[in-house]
Amino acid sequence: MSNNSLYDLVQAATGVINTQIPAPPEVAIVLGSGLGFLADRVIHNRVVIDYDQIPGFEPPSVEGHAGRVVYGDLAGVPVLMYQGRFHYYEGHSLDSVTLPARVAANLGAKLMILTAATGGIATDLAPGDLCCISDHINMLGVNPLRGRHDERLGKRFPDMTEVYSRVWRKLAFEAASLLNLPLKNAVYAAMAGPSYETPAEVRMLRALGADVVGMSTVPEAIVSRASGMDVLAFAMVTNAAAGLAGDPTTEITHDEVLEVAKHSGQRLGDLIVHILNQHFSPK
Ligand code: HPA
Repeated sequence: MSNNSLYDLVQAATGVINTQIPAPPEVAIVLGSGLGFLADRVIHNRVVIDYDQIPGFEPPSVEGHAGRVVYGDLAGVPVLMYQGRFHYYEGHSLDSVTLPARVAANLGAKLMILTAATGGIATDLAPGDLCCISDHINMLGVNPLRGRHDERLGKRFPDMTEVYSRVWRKLAFEAASLLNLPLKNAVYAAMAGPSYETPAEVRMLRALGADVVGMSTVPEAIVSRASGMDVLAFAMVTNAAAGLAGDPTTEITHDEVLEVAKHSGQRLGDLIVHILNQHFSPK
């Protein structure tokens, strides 16, 4: 995908979705590994569009990612869910990885909610824990905004002091407390993958201030913020990061990641519904 055509591609993808949905989405949600089932919560005004119908969207190659847009009402709010994300480790360019975020902004979404399976680094995190991402460390070695700049897609040098909206994080913690659902703050470190980290890398990430580690989220968060959306992001801890499980021979597997995400993901669905309910319901 050349940078020259990025704006046109965003327009084309937006156009395909726009012709099929009854109203612009308020919120876009990217469903991470094993969390795709959350799209089942969208029942009213449901519109499903396969990625192969949308210019620039390729079918995902990773198990646990379906590859379709599910639009509809969630807690009475029009949402656009991406059931399946593009990862850098699949070989996609960061323009492709972040195309869904650009399209969401172009469709009119004000809030981007990102979800991801992660390895837990902080000592107080265990598999099944749910975290609200407060900040990130980009260890990908690349930035999704690199390339020839097109003013129509956002600023050249966007500020990243508050990528993850303070206001929305506060709402998330309020909703979690109402639901009696433990929610922790976490700094997310993005690694390119697809191999999981080595124990030495995990020690490095901990020393740098990371609480969880994953292979996504950060490019989408940067582009969402640069495109003018508020960002709220949740990390589901699916495993202890490498070297941190009690047994040093423990291996991390994608199956385990999917299994834990599936079991613990319902709580994340409840939380998102509650947040939207609280914020958008008539006061
Ligand atoms: N490391 C990186 N990405 C992940 C992990 C992990 O331990 N678990 C789930 N996604």
